Amino acid sequence: DWTAANVVDELVEAIRQQVGESRVLCALSGGVDSSVAAALVQKAVGDQLTCVFVDHGLLRAGEAEQVEKDFVDATGVDLVVVDAKDQFLSALAGVSDPEEKRKIIGREFIRVFEQAARDIVGEHRGDNDHPVEFLVQGTLYPDVVESGGGTGAANIKSHHNVGGLPEDLQFKLVEPLRSLFKDEVRQVGLELGVPEGIVWRQPFPGPGLGIRIVGDVTAERLEVLRAADAIAREELTAAGLDRDIWQCPVVLLADVRSVGVQGDGRTYGHPIVLRPVSSEDAMTADWTRVPYDVLAKISTRITNEVREVNRVVLDVTSKPPGTIEWE
Ligand code: XMP
Repeated sequence: DWTAANVVDELVEAIRQQVGESRVLCALSGGVDSSVAAALVQKAVGDQLTCVFVDHGLLRAGEAEQVEKDFVDATGVDLVVVDAKDQFLSALAGVSDPEEKRKIIGREFIRVFEQAARDIVGEHRGDNDHPVEFLVQGTLYPDVVESGGGTGAANIKSHHNVGGLPEDLQFKLVEPLRSLFKDEVRQVGLELGVPEGIVWRQPFPGPGLGIRIVGDVTAERLEVLRAADAIAREELTAAGLDRDIWQCPVVLLADVRSVGVQGDGRTYGHPIVLRPVSSEDAMTADWTRVPYDVLAKISTRITNEVREVNRVVLDVTSKPPGTIEWE
């Protein structure tokens, strides 16, 4: 009988078997998979686990708090927060090419995580009996199938070292979600008391808002985009559309300006693009027919409340030919 409670019991037992008395690290992103994986390991081995949250400053409004406060309150995990906002901003300064942005964000993430991991490993180096030995990964069943069905490449990966990490930081992997599909991960998350805002979170790309600013990324632009995005999400949620929409990127065209009029003054501001899509797996997608009155409300609020934005446009392109993200 598949019940979330049974699955939790089994997985917790398996984690205890695998980990023993060793210490475990986990990089939390705020996404469903890493959060549920961390919550499972926490239930299994408690304070042998340390989670690391790298705040790269590219998250949406409220997301860092969701991890730092809601998730920690709900699960009791030991969390190390690294505020790397300035480091990411400097690394991204002047860069507008999308793939270049991705490379930089990926590289900086590894750097910051490595340093945090080194510090934590160093702290526990004295405990010879229980060194930091394991790293949690939120790998799901579809990822396992994609990379070779648990034998070959995937097997090598799970029993040896994690690719990309240096010699002195070598971990074995704990992958408690390897047998689960996404909807099962959500059930397990609910069973474990992971906050609903995380369990039901729509997909959000690792590089975050960094790839939703067309143009280079600055603190001011992030602030504008974050404000517009928060309004769009609030109204879509209020309209009860969260389950109909796969995800809704909100994009700032930072290099585009258009003329507008507000009050008795001319404005020369930036457009915001709404990109609500419906999809099964993100491989293909259609633009979601969001009711006009909801779109109107979002548009009115964004142009009223976000001073730098004087125009809101709707992306009515399917995938293909458009991708879901603009970059
Ligand atoms: P596209 O834009 O390729 O997006 O249609 C498909 C799905 O992938 C997400 N996405 C990313 N996720 N790192 C990620 O972790 C990335 O660089 C990235 N680019 C796109 C996107 O949000 C959508 O769900």
